[in-house]
Amino acid sequence: MPAELLAQAQAAKGFMPEDEGAALHRLGLARLPHGPALEVGTYCGKSALYLGAAAQAVSAATGRDAVVFTVDHHRGSEENQAGWEHHDPSVVDPEIGLMDTLGVFRKNIARAGLEDHVIAIVGQSQTVAAHWRAPLSLLFIDGGHGEQPARDDFQGWAHWVEAGGCLAIHDVFEDPAEGGRPPYEQIYLPALASGAFTEVEAVGSLRVLQRTSGAAGDPLA
Ligand SMILES: C[S@@+](CC[C@H](N)C(=O)[O-])C[C@H]1O[C@@H](n2cnc3c(N)ncnc32)[C@H](O)[C@@H]1O
Repeated sequence: MPAELLAQAQAAKGFMPEDEGAALHRLGLARLPHGPALEVGTYCGKSALYLGAAAQAVSAATGRDAVVFTVDHHRGSEENQAGWEHHDPSVVDPEIGLMDTLGVFRKNIARAGLEDHVIAIVGQSQTVAAHWRAPLSLLFIDGGHGEQPARDDFQGWAHWVEAGGCLAIHDVFEDPAEGGRPPYEQIYLPALASGAFTEVEAVGSLRVLQRTSGAAGDPLA
C-alpha cells in the first residue's frame, strides 16, 4: 500500500487495527480484478481507505474500473451512541443531535484521491440489501454488532458472494471475554454451517471465508 495512503488510513477515525487493514488491502488486491467489493459499515472510512487503495491499484494494473461500495446510514451503531463505550462526540451533528459520519468519510476519501473507487451508499443496510442484485467478489461485514443487525447483514448480503469470492467478517470473537459475540454467532457460524463457505484466513478478529459452493444469488442453507 502506498505510504501516503497507509498514513491516511492510520490517521482516520475508526475501528480497524493496522494488521487487519493490511489483510483487507491484500484481499482487495486479490479479489477486485474479478468484480466489485461491498463493505457494510463505513463509519469514517478507515477500512474503506485500505480497500479503496487496493481498488486504485487494481484499476491502474488492469485498466478497468475496480470499485468498493460501502453502505452505512452514518447514524452510528448502538455502541457508538452517547453513553456507550465507542461514542465520539465530535461526530454528532449538534443541530439534529444525531451522529453523522458521512462528512468525515467524504473528506477522508477525497483527501486520499479515492472518490472514483469508493462509492458511498447511505441508508439502512437491510433496505439496500433487499434491492441489491449484483454478484460480489468481496463482501466485508462490519456493520451493527447487535444480534439482529448481524443476523440481518448475513441474511441480506452473504448470498451475493460469487463462487470463489470472499466473505470477510470483522470482530469475530469466539470467547465472550474478548468481545461481543453476534458477528461470531450470527455471521461466521451460519456462513460455515451453510456449507457454502470455507475459512481461508484469520488475522486478529478478522475472518475470511471463501465461497466454495453455489453461485451468487443462490439462497444459503
Ligand atoms: C464498527 S463501525 C464500522 C467501522 C469501519 N468499518 C472502520 O473501519 O472504522 C459500524 C458502522 O455500521 C453502521 N451501521 C450499524 N447498523 C447499520 C445498519 N443497520 N445499516 C447501515 N449502517 C449500519 C454504523 O453507523 C457504523 O458506522
